[in-house]
Amino acid sequence: MPFKPRVFSGMQPTGNLHLGNYLGALQRWVEMQNTHECIYCIVDMHAITVWQNPAELRQAIRDVAAAYIAAGLDTKKSIIFNQSQVPVHAELGWIFSCVARLGWLDRMTQFKEKAGKDKERASVGLYAYPALMAADILAYQATHVPVGEDQKQHLELTRDIAQKFNNDYADGIRAAGIADGLFFPMPEPVIQGPATRVMSLRDGSKKMSKSDASDNSRINMIDDADTIGKKIQKAKTDPEPLPSEEAGLDPRPEADNLVGIYAAMADTTKADVLAQFGGGQFSTFKKALAELAVAKISPITSEMRRLTADPAEIDRILADGSRRAAAISQPIMDQVKDIVGFIRS
Ligand code: TYM
Repeated sequence: MPFKPRVFSGMQPTGNLHLGNYLGALQRWVEMQNTHECIYCIVDMHAITVWQNPAELRQAIRDVAAAYIAAGLDTKKSIIFNQSQVPVHAELGWIFSCVARLGWLDRMTQFKEKAGKDKERASVGLYAYPALMAADILAYQATHVPVGEDQKQHLELTRDIAQKFNNDYADGIRAAGIADGLFFPMPEPVIQGPATRVMSLRDGSKKMSKSDASDNSRINMIDDADTIGKKIQKAKTDPEPLPSEEAGLDPRPEADNLVGIYAAMADTTKADVLAQFGGGQFSTFKKALAELAVAKISPITSEMRRLTADPAEIDRILADGSRRAAAISQPIMDQVKDIVGFIRS
């Protein structure tokens, strides 16, 4: 079956979004809505794989919805919704838990990182997390998934699940009239641009992350101009001037990170940034970077504040998005149930 190009991606509503989420994913999502049919999810069911305070979770779902819209997602062009409002995700997630093999999930590095040393105390949901993620994507037969580098392994697993489902149920799929036997597409990761892995501002070997204890390690999308300036000024660097060519960034993770951030925000390449700043001191570059970051983030932050002041309107947007999402995924789920051998009325 030739699949219609369709984009699906999502973020967890766990704490504040940061510059890594924005440059690694959200910025690309905004671009893709001009060329593709796009579905963007707030994955609240993934969020509870680790404990979330209910009142904070509710707030975080609305905050992420506001961030999506403030960053430029247009509810007329794209579908924006929260995962738990479309039951198909849970239903297909279960079926995929039965398709995925323990050995596949055992290899997931994100589980190992998040579970830490005490694996016995991690939730079953945290372990099965990638099966639910595969369900998010495949419930829409999505073909393209724009994400940061850290999601690559989960997307490989999604493809493995799609392939195994297509193989295991090949007869049922053909019986349903799908002659080429491809019920699920093999979704392609879209990991592009100079900032697919934004690193901590304090340690160039660690990913910028919501869970880092040091707030100075990340730029939050709700930071004010002053805070952004200070965090960039304090960002770890090395004593050498900036190189003039990209190869010179190779053994210098902190410099590489800041140049990548600049390039992503200026919508250019690292080579171009180095052509402009190469040979200069970090102090000059950091000043320019702070100005650019403030110019880029501040309008988004103020729009987020405006939107979150009206939670009822956000809830209305999510309800509307959920209806539109279900209109696409429910018929696909009905077919899945028939293929698997369930009875439905
Ligand atoms: P999450 O919520 O951790 O992150 C959301 C998106 O931000 C990207 N990202 C980064 N990109 C560059 N540098 C960083 N430091 C950085 N940190 C985060 C992530 O790669 C991601 O694109 N499992 C997913 C959520 C999910 C999903 C899906 C994604 C659930 N279902 C279906 C795509 C399709 C996650 O935890 O993302």
